[in-house]
Amino acid sequence: MSFAQTLRCRKCGQEYPLQPMNVCDFCLSPLEVSYDYQAMAKAISRDKLSQGPRSMWRYRDLLPAEDEEVDIGTGFTPLVKANNLGRELGLEQLYIKNDCLNPTYSFKDRPVSVAASKAREFGFDTLACASTGNLAASVAAHAAKAKMKAYVFVPADVEPGKLVGAAIYNPVLITVNGSYDDVNRLCAKVTQKYKLGFININLRPYYAEGSKTLGYEVAEQLGWRAPDCVVAPAASGLLFTRIWKALDELAMLRLIEPANTHMFVSQAAGSSPIVNAFEAGSHHVNPVVPSTIVKSIAIGNPTDGYYALRVARQSGGGACAVTDDEAITGMKLLAQSEGIFTEAAGGVVVSALKKLAATGAIKHQELTVAFITGAGPRTQDILASTVQPVATEPNLESLEKVLSLPGQTDTKGYANKDRGD
Ligand SMILES: Cc1ncc(COP(=O)(O)O)c(C=O)c1O
Ligand SMILES: [Zn+2]
Repeated sequence: MSFAQTLRCRKCGQEYPLQPMNVCDFCLSPLEVSYDYQAMAKAISRDKLSQGPRSMWRYRDLLPAEDEEVDIGTGFTPLVKANNLGRELGLEQLYIKNDCLNPTYSFKDRPVSVAASKAREFGFDTLACASTGNLAASVAAHAAKAKMKAYVFVPADVEPGKLVGAAIYNPVLITVNGSYDDVNRLCAKVTQKYKLGFININLRPYYAEGSKTLGYEVAEQLGWRAPDCVVAPAASGLLFTRIWKALDELAMLRLIEPANTHMFVSQAAGSSPIVNAFEAGSHHVNPVVPSTIVKSIAIGNPTDGYYALRVARQSGGGACAVTDDEAITGMKLLAQSEGIFTEAAGGVVVSALKKLAATGAIKHQELTVAFITGAGPRTQDILASTVQPVATEPNLESLEKVLSLPGQTDTKGYANKDRGD
Protein backbone atom coordinates (compact mmCIF):
# COMPACT_ATOMS: atom_id res chain seq x y z
CA MET A 1 0.00 0.00 0.00
CA SER A 2 1.34 3.42 -0.92
CA PHE A 3 0.30 6.97 -0.05
CA ALA A 4 0.61 8.11 -3.67
CA GLN A 5 -2.70 9.55 -4.85
CA THR A 6 -2.47 11.18 -8.25
CA LEU A 7 -0.18 12.61 -10.90
CA ARG A 8 -0.23 16.39 -10.64
CA CYS A 9 0.94 18.98 -13.16
CA ARG A 10 3.79 21.00 -11.74
CA LYS A 11 2.58 24.13 -13.53
CA CYS A 12 -1.22 24.24 -13.66
CA GLY A 13 -2.01 21.72 -10.90
CA GLN A 14 -4.25 19.53 -13.10
CA GLU A 15 -4.54 16.04 -11.62
CA TYR A 16 -4.57 12.66 -13.34
CA PRO A 17 -4.96 9.09 -12.07
CA LEU A 18 -1.70 7.23 -11.47
CA GLN A 19 -0.80 5.85 -14.90
CA PRO A 20 2.09 5.81 -17.39
CA MET A 21 2.05 9.49 -18.35
CA ASN A 22 4.60 12.27 -17.98
CA VAL A 23 3.26 15.57 -19.35
CA CYS A 24 0.09 17.54 -18.70
CA ASP A 25 -2.50 17.39 -21.51
CA PHE A 26 -3.35 21.05 -20.92
CA CYS A 27 -0.01 22.83 -20.58
CA LEU A 28 2.58 20.16 -21.52
CA SER A 29 4.44 20.68 -18.23
CA PRO A 30 5.92 17.70 -16.34
CA LEU A 31 3.71 15.67 -14.01
CA GLU A 32 4.77 14.56 -10.56
CA VAL A 33 3.41 12.09 -8.04
CA SER A 34 1.36 13.66 -5.25
CA TYR A 35 0.79 11.94 -1.92
CA ASP A 36 -1.60 11.95 0.99
CA TYR A 37 0.94 13.48 3.34
CA GLN A 38 -1.44 13.58 6.30
CA ALA A 39 -1.97 9.83 6.20
CA MET A 40 1.74 9.35 5.54
CA ALA A 41 2.67 11.44 8.58
CA LYS A 42 0.54 9.22 10.81
CA ALA A 43 2.10 6.05 9.44
CA ILE A 44 5.81 6.87 9.59
CA SER A 45 8.31 7.79 12.26
CA ARG A 46 12.08 7.89 12.56
CA ASP A 47 11.96 4.65 14.54
CA LYS A 48 9.89 2.81 11.99
CA LEU A 49 12.03 4.01 9.10
CA SER A 50 15.26 3.05 10.80
CA GLN A 51 14.01 -0.50 11.34
CA GLY A 52 13.46 -0.99 7.61
CA PRO A 53 15.69 -2.99 5.24
CA ARG A 54 19.21 -1.72 4.62
CA SER A 55 18.27 -0.59 1.12
CA MET A 56 16.45 2.30 -0.52
CA TRP A 57 13.21 0.39 0.13
CA ARG A 58 13.32 1.31 3.82
CA TYR A 59 11.62 4.51 2.53
CA ARG A 60 8.84 2.55 0.81
CA ASP A 61 6.15 4.64 2.57
CA LEU A 62 7.50 7.76 0.83
CA LEU A 63 7.52 6.14 -2.62
CA PRO A 64 4.74 5.36 -5.11
CA ALA A 65 5.11 1.53 -5.42
CA GLU A 66 2.07 -0.58 -4.54
CA ASP A 67 3.21 -4.14 -5.27
CA GLU A 68 6.42 -5.96 -4.49
CA GLU A 69 9.35 -3.90 -5.72
CA VAL A 70 11.90 -4.79 -8.39
CA ASP A 71 14.98 -4.61 -6.21
CA ILE A 72 18.54 -5.57 -7.09
CA GLY A 73 19.91 -4.46 -3.71
CA THR A 74 20.09 -0.71 -4.21
CA GLY A 75 20.80 2.04 -1.74
CA PHE A 76 21.93 2.56 1.83
CA THR A 77 25.30 3.48 0.42
CA PRO A 78 27.99 4.94 2.69
CA LEU A 79 28.05 8.56 3.78
CA VAL A 80 31.76 9.03 4.36
CA LYS A 81 33.24 11.78 6.53
CA ALA A 82 35.83 13.12 4.10
CA ASN A 83 38.44 14.51 6.48
CA ASN A 84 41.36 14.43 4.04
CA LEU A 85 39.53 16.13 1.21
CA GLY A 86 37.88 18.52 3.67
CA ARG A 87 41.28 19.60 5.01
CA GLU A 88 42.53 20.16 1.49
CA LEU A 89 39.53 22.31 0.57
CA GLY A 90 39.21 24.09 3.90
CA LEU A 91 35.89 22.44 4.83
CA GLU A 92 35.51 21.23 8.41
CA GLN A 93 32.46 19.04 7.96
CA LEU A 94 32.60 17.51 4.52
CA TYR A 95 30.82 14.26 3.66
CA ILE A 96 30.82 12.20 0.48
CA LYS A 97 27.67 10.29 -0.38
CA ASN A 98 29.28 7.40 -2.23
CA ASP A 99 26.58 6.22 -4.61
CA CYS A 100 29.12 4.47 -6.83
CA LEU A 101 28.40 1.47 -4.62
CA ASN A 102 25.05 0.55 -6.12
CA PRO A 103 24.60 -2.73 -8.02
CA THR A 104 25.17 -1.19 -11.47
CA TYR A 105 27.67 1.36 -10.14
CA SER A 106 25.57 4.53 -10.25
CA PHE A 107 22.70 6.24 -8.44
CA LYS A 108 20.46 5.36 -11.41
CA ASP A 109 19.50 2.12 -9.70
CA ARG A 110 17.36 4.19 -7.32
CA PRO A 111 15.03 5.85 -9.85
CA VAL A 112 15.01 2.72 -12.02
CA SER A 113 14.01 0.44 -9.14
CA VAL A 114 10.89 2.57 -8.57
CA ALA A 115 10.06 2.99 -12.27
CA ALA A 116 10.57 -0.73 -13.03
CA SER A 117 8.28 -1.63 -10.12
CA LYS A 118 5.59 0.66 -11.52
CA ALA A 119 6.13 -0.69 -15.05
CA ARG A 120 5.37 -4.19 -13.78
CA GLU A 121 2.30 -2.93 -11.90
CA PHE A 122 1.03 -1.22 -15.06
CA GLY A 123 1.36 -4.48 -16.98
CA PHE A 124 4.30 -3.66 -19.26
CA ASP A 125 6.43 -6.62 -20.30
CA THR A 126 9.24 -4.44 -21.71
CA LEU A 127 11.37 -1.68 -20.20
CA ALA A 128 13.13 0.95 -22.29
CA CYS A 129 15.17 4.11 -21.81
CA ALA A 130 17.12 6.89 -23.47
CA SER A 131 20.48 6.93 -21.74
CA THR A 132 23.85 8.63 -21.62
CA GLY A 133 25.26 5.29 -20.41
CA ASN A 134 24.52 4.63 -16.75
CA LEU A 135 20.76 4.42 -17.08
CA ALA A 136 21.08 1.78 -19.82
CA ALA A 137 22.95 -0.58 -17.49
CA SER A 138 20.49 -0.04 -14.68
CA VAL A 139 17.39 -0.55 -16.83
CA ALA A 140 18.87 -3.69 -18.39
CA ALA A 141 19.74 -5.09 -14.94
CA HIS A 142 16.27 -4.41 -13.53
CA ALA A 143 14.63 -5.96 -16.60
CA ALA A 144 16.76 -9.06 -16.08
CA LYS A 145 15.74 -9.27 -12.43
CA ALA A 146 12.05 -8.76 -13.25
CA LYS A 147 12.23 -11.17 -16.22
CA MET A 148 11.16 -8.40 -18.58
CA LYS A 149 12.55 -7.45 -21.98
CA ALA A 150 14.62 -4.28 -22.37
CA TYR A 151 15.36 -1.85 -25.20
CA VAL A 152 18.07 0.59 -24.21
CA PHE A 153 19.09 3.49 -26.46
CA VAL A 154 22.46 5.27 -26.13
CA PRO A 155 24.44 7.74 -28.28
CA ALA A 156 26.84 5.88 -30.60
CA ASP A 157 29.87 7.61 -29.03
CA VAL A 158 29.14 6.32 -25.50
CA GLU A 159 32.22 4.99 -23.66
CA PRO A 160 33.01 1.31 -24.49
CA GLY A 161 32.85 0.39 -20.79
CA LYS A 162 29.30 1.72 -20.58
CA LEU A 163 28.26 -0.43 -23.55
CA VAL A 164 29.67 -3.55 -21.95
CA GLY A 165 28.15 -2.50 -18.63
CA ALA A 166 24.69 -2.61 -20.21
CA ALA A 167 25.23 -5.50 -22.66
CA ILE A 168 26.08 -7.99 -19.92
CA TYR A 169 22.39 -8.03 -18.85
CA ASN A 170 21.38 -8.89 -22.43
CA PRO A 171 19.02 -6.05 -23.38
CA VAL A 172 18.41 -5.02 -26.98
CA LEU A 173 21.18 -2.41 -27.00
CA ILE A 174 20.66 0.30 -29.63
CA THR A 175 23.32 2.86 -30.49
CA VAL A 176 21.95 6.01 -32.11
CA ASN A 177 24.04 8.04 -34.48
CA GLY A 178 23.59 11.37 -32.70
CA SER A 179 23.77 13.16 -29.35
CA TYR A 180 21.79 12.23 -26.23
CA ASP A 181 19.25 14.88 -27.17
CA ASP A 182 18.76 13.11 -30.53
CA VAL A 183 18.37 9.80 -28.68
CA ASN A 184 15.74 11.37 -26.44
CA ARG A 185 13.78 12.78 -29.38
CA LEU A 186 13.79 9.40 -31.13
CA CYS A 187 12.65 7.66 -27.94
CA ALA A 188 9.77 10.13 -27.48
CA LYS A 189 8.51 9.07 -30.92
CA VAL A 190 8.94 5.38 -30.08
CA THR A 191 6.93 5.88 -26.86
CA GLN A 192 4.02 7.34 -28.79
CA LYS A 193 3.87 4.39 -31.18
CA TYR A 194 4.74 1.32 -29.08
CA LYS A 195 3.62 0.03 -25.68
CA LEU A 196 6.88 0.17 -23.79
CA GLY A 197 7.61 1.10 -20.21
CA PHE A 198 9.97 3.96 -21.02
CA ILE A 199 11.67 4.51 -17.70
CA ASN A 200 12.54 8.18 -18.26
CA ILE A 201 9.66 9.12 -20.57
CA ASN A 202 6.18 7.76 -19.84
CA LEU A 203 7.29 6.46 -16.42
CA ARG A 204 9.29 9.61 -15.62
CA PRO A 205 7.16 10.78 -12.66
CA TYR A 206 7.86 7.47 -10.86
CA TYR A 207 11.49 7.39 -11.96
CA ALA A 208 11.89 10.86 -10.43
CA GLU A 209 10.68 9.66 -7.04
CA GLY A 210 13.42 7.05 -6.69
CA SER A 211 16.13 9.70 -6.55
CA LYS A 212 14.53 11.14 -3.40
CA THR A 213 15.97 8.21 -1.47
CA LEU A 214 19.41 9.84 -1.76
CA GLY A 215 18.12 12.79 0.24
CA TYR A 216 16.34 10.61 2.82
CA GLU A 217 19.41 8.47 3.36
CA VAL A 218 21.73 11.41 3.85
CA ALA A 219 19.38 13.00 6.40
CA GLU A 220 19.06 9.72 8.31
CA GLN A 221 22.80 9.04 8.16
CA LEU A 222 23.49 12.51 9.56
CA GLY A 223 21.28 11.64 12.55
CA TRP A 224 18.06 13.05 11.09
CA ARG A 225 19.17 16.46 9.93
CA ALA A 226 19.57 18.23 6.60
CA PRO A 227 23.03 19.32 5.40
CA ASP A 228 23.85 23.04 5.28
CA CYS A 229 25.08 22.67 1.71
CA VAL A 230 24.72 20.11 -1.05
CA VAL A 231 26.80 19.84 -4.22
CA ALA A 232 25.34 17.52 -6.86
CA PRO A 233 25.69 17.01 -10.61
CA ALA A 234 22.96 17.69 -13.17
CA ALA A 235 22.20 16.26 -16.58
CA SER A 236 18.42 16.44 -17.01
CA GLY A 237 18.34 18.18 -13.60
CA LEU A 238 16.01 15.65 -12.04
CA LEU A 239 18.34 14.19 -9.41
CA PHE A 240 19.21 17.66 -8.14
CA THR A 241 15.56 18.65 -7.68
CA ARG A 242 14.72 15.36 -5.96
CA ILE A 243 17.44 15.65 -3.33
CA TRP A 244 15.81 18.95 -2.41
CA LYS A 245 12.29 17.53 -2.51
CA ALA A 246 13.33 14.71 -0.17
CA LEU A 247 14.67 17.12 2.44
CA ASP A 248 11.59 19.29 2.08
CA GLU A 249 9.29 16.29 2.60
CA LEU A 250 11.18 15.11 5.68
CA ALA A 251 10.80 18.59 7.18
CA MET A 252 7.10 18.69 6.29
CA LEU A 253 6.64 15.30 7.98
CA ARG A 254 8.52 16.67 11.01
CA LEU A 255 11.19 13.98 10.77
CA ILE A 256 13.85 16.70 10.59
CA GLU A 257 13.97 20.41 11.49
CA PRO A 258 12.96 22.75 8.65
CA ALA A 259 15.54 22.28 5.92
CA ASN A 260 17.59 25.31 5.00
CA THR A 261 20.00 23.55 2.68
CA HIS A 262 21.86 25.58 0.06
CA MET A 263 21.75 23.53 -3.13
CA PHE A 264 24.71 23.90 -5.54
CA VAL A 265 24.39 22.38 -8.99
CA SER A 266 27.48 21.35 -10.96
CA GLN A 267 27.93 20.66 -14.67
CA ALA A 268 30.74 20.21 -17.17
CA ALA A 269 31.55 23.51 -18.90
CA GLY A 270 31.06 21.82 -22.29
CA SER A 271 27.44 21.04 -21.38
CA SER A 272 26.24 23.52 -18.79
CA PRO A 273 22.88 25.00 -19.83
CA ILE A 274 21.65 25.17 -16.22
CA VAL A 275 24.80 26.86 -14.92
CA ASN A 276 24.71 29.30 -17.87
CA ALA A 277 21.14 30.32 -17.01
CA PHE A 278 22.01 30.71 -13.33
CA GLU A 279 24.99 32.92 -14.11
CA ALA A 280 23.02 34.99 -16.61
CA GLY A 281 20.26 35.58 -14.05
CA SER A 282 17.84 34.07 -16.57
CA HIS A 283 14.70 32.04 -15.89
CA HIS A 284 15.08 30.26 -19.17
CA VAL A 285 17.48 27.37 -19.75
CA ASN A 286 18.76 27.74 -23.32
CA PRO A 287 19.75 24.44 -24.93
CA VAL A 288 23.41 23.91 -25.88
CA VAL A 289 25.22 21.39 -28.09
CA PRO A 290 27.33 19.36 -25.63
CA SER A 291 31.05 18.99 -26.15
CA THR A 292 32.71 17.34 -23.17
CA ILE A 293 34.38 14.12 -22.05
CA VAL A 294 31.91 14.03 -19.14
CA LYS A 295 29.44 12.10 -21.24
CA SER A 296 27.18 10.77 -18.52
CA ILE A 297 25.91 14.28 -17.77
CA ALA A 298 26.12 15.69 -21.29
CA ILE A 299 22.52 16.72 -21.88
CA GLY A 300 22.15 19.92 -23.88
CA ASN A 301 18.41 20.34 -23.42
CA PRO A 302 17.63 19.28 -19.85
CA THR A 303 14.00 18.28 -19.24
CA ASP A 304 14.07 19.45 -15.62
CA GLY A 305 16.58 22.24 -16.14
CA TYR A 306 14.09 24.98 -15.25
CA TYR A 307 13.22 23.28 -11.95
CA ALA A 308 16.86 22.62 -11.09
CA LEU A 309 17.61 26.28 -11.70
CA ARG A 310 14.75 27.27 -9.42
CA VAL A 311 15.96 24.97 -6.62
CA ALA A 312 19.49 26.40 -6.86
CA ARG A 313 18.14 29.97 -6.66
CA GLN A 314 15.42 29.53 -4.08
CA SER A 315 17.61 27.54 -1.71
CA GLY A 316 20.27 30.26 -1.66
CA GLY A 317 22.66 27.87 -3.37
CA GLY A 318 24.45 28.31 -6.66
CA ALA A 319 25.79 26.79 -9.83
CA CYS A 320 29.28 25.92 -10.96
CA ALA A 321 30.75 24.58 -14.19
CA VAL A 322 34.21 23.03 -14.54
CA THR A 323 36.36 22.22 -17.56
CA ASP A 324 37.16 18.69 -18.68
CA ASP A 325 40.69 19.04 -17.27
CA GLU A 326 39.26 20.15 -13.95
CA ALA A 327 36.90 17.14 -13.99
CA ILE A 328 39.89 14.82 -14.34
CA THR A 329 41.75 16.69 -11.59
CA GLY A 330 38.65 16.25 -9.43
CA MET A 331 38.58 12.50 -10.07
CA LYS A 332 42.22 12.23 -9.03
CA LEU A 333 41.74 14.43 -6.00
CA LEU A 334 38.88 12.29 -4.69
CA ALA A 335 40.73 9.03 -5.37
CA GLN A 336 43.96 10.28 -3.81
CA SER A 337 42.39 11.87 -0.75
CA GLU A 338 39.50 9.55 0.08
CA GLY A 339 40.17 6.34 -1.88
CA ILE A 340 37.02 6.69 -4.00
CA PHE A 341 37.27 6.12 -7.75
CA THR A 342 34.47 8.06 -9.41
CA GLU A 343 33.67 8.66 -13.05
CA ALA A 344 34.08 12.12 -14.57
CA ALA A 345 30.68 13.32 -13.29
CA GLY A 346 32.06 12.88 -9.76
CA GLY A 347 35.19 14.74 -10.82
CA VAL A 348 32.94 17.63 -11.84
CA VAL A 349 31.35 17.62 -8.38
CA VAL A 350 34.69 17.60 -6.57
CA SER A 351 36.19 20.38 -8.68
CA ALA A 352 33.02 22.44 -8.33
CA LEU A 353 33.15 21.90 -4.58
CA LYS A 354 36.75 23.09 -4.57
CA LYS A 355 35.80 26.29 -6.40
CA LEU A 356 32.77 26.93 -4.21
CA ALA A 357 34.86 26.51 -1.06
CA ALA A 358 37.64 28.72 -2.44
CA THR A 359 35.25 31.56 -3.26
CA GLY A 360 33.50 31.31 0.10
CA ALA A 361 30.16 30.33 -1.45
CA ILE A 362 30.42 27.32 0.87
CA LYS A 363 31.83 28.32 4.26
CA HIS A 364 34.38 26.26 6.10
CA GLN A 365 32.16 25.31 9.04
CA GLU A 366 29.10 24.40 6.98
CA LEU A 367 28.09 20.75 6.94
CA THR A 368 28.43 19.92 3.26
CA VAL A 369 27.51 16.77 1.36
CA ALA A 370 28.97 16.12 -2.10
CA PHE A 371 27.03 13.55 -4.11
CA ILE A 372 29.27 11.14 -6.03
CA THR A 373 26.85 9.42 -8.32
CA GLY A 374 28.81 7.09 -10.60
CA ALA A 375 31.86 4.83 -10.39
CA GLY A 376 35.09 5.26 -12.33
CA PRO A 377 36.10 1.86 -13.65
CA ARG A 378 33.73 1.82 -16.64
CA THR A 379 35.18 5.07 -18.02
CA GLN A 380 38.86 4.42 -17.49
CA ASP A 381 39.77 5.44 -21.03
CA ILE A 382 39.80 9.15 -20.19
CA LEU A 383 42.57 8.52 -17.67
CA ALA A 384 44.70 6.18 -19.79
CA SER A 385 47.14 8.86 -20.90
CA THR A 386 47.80 9.88 -17.29
CA VAL A 387 48.94 6.41 -16.16
CA GLN A 388 52.73 6.17 -15.77
CA PRO A 389 53.73 2.84 -14.25
CA VAL A 390 57.33 2.15 -13.25
CA ALA A 391 58.49 -0.87 -15.29
CA THR A 392 61.10 -3.28 -13.93
CA GLU A 393 62.76 -6.58 -14.82
CA PRO A 394 61.92 -9.32 -12.30
CA ASN A 395 65.09 -8.80 -10.23
CA LEU A 396 66.12 -6.55 -7.36
CA GLU A 397 68.88 -4.75 -9.22
CA SER A 398 66.47 -3.58 -11.88
CA LEU A 399 63.85 -2.56 -9.32
CA GLU A 400 66.37 -0.57 -7.29
CA LYS A 401 67.56 1.14 -10.42
CA VAL A 402 64.15 2.20 -11.70
CA LEU A 403 63.06 3.36 -8.23
CA SER A 404 66.46 5.01 -7.59
CA LEU A 405 66.78 3.05 -4.33
CA PRO A 406 70.16 3.19 -2.52
CA GLY A 407 70.51 -0.65 -2.60
CA GLN A 408 69.89 -1.34 1.08
CA THR A 409 71.77 -4.33 2.59
CA ASP A 410 70.67 -4.23 6.25
CA THR A 411 67.38 -6.16 6.27
CA LYS A 412 66.97 -6.08 10.08
CA GLY A 413 63.35 -5.43 10.93
CA TYR A 414 62.20 -6.35 7.45
CA ALA A 415 62.94 -10.05 6.84
CA ASN A 416 61.16 -12.31 9.29
CA LYS A 417 62.49 -15.86 9.12
CA ASP A 418 59.71 -17.28 11.32
CA ARG A 419 57.07 -16.04 8.93
CA GLY A 420 59.11 -17.39 6.06
CA ASP A 421 59.30 -13.96 4.37
C1 LIG B 1 26.75 9.57 -12.92
C2 LIG B 1 25.60 10.48 -13.13
N1 LIG B 1 25.41 11.49 -12.27
C3 LIG B 1 24.40 12.36 -12.41
C4 LIG B 1 23.49 12.28 -13.46
C5 LIG B 1 22.42 13.31 -13.55
O1 LIG B 1 21.13 12.83 -13.52
P1 LIG B 1 19.88 13.75 -13.87
O2 LIG B 1 19.52 13.46 -15.30
O3 LIG B 1 18.82 13.28 -12.92
O4 LIG B 1 20.26 15.18 -13.69
C6 LIG B 1 23.64 11.24 -14.38
C7 LIG B 1 22.70 11.11 -15.50
O5 LIG B 1 22.81 10.31 -16.39
C8 LIG B 1 24.72 10.32 -14.22
O6 LIG B 1 24.91 9.30 -15.09
ZN1 LIG C 1 -0.64 21.55 -16.67
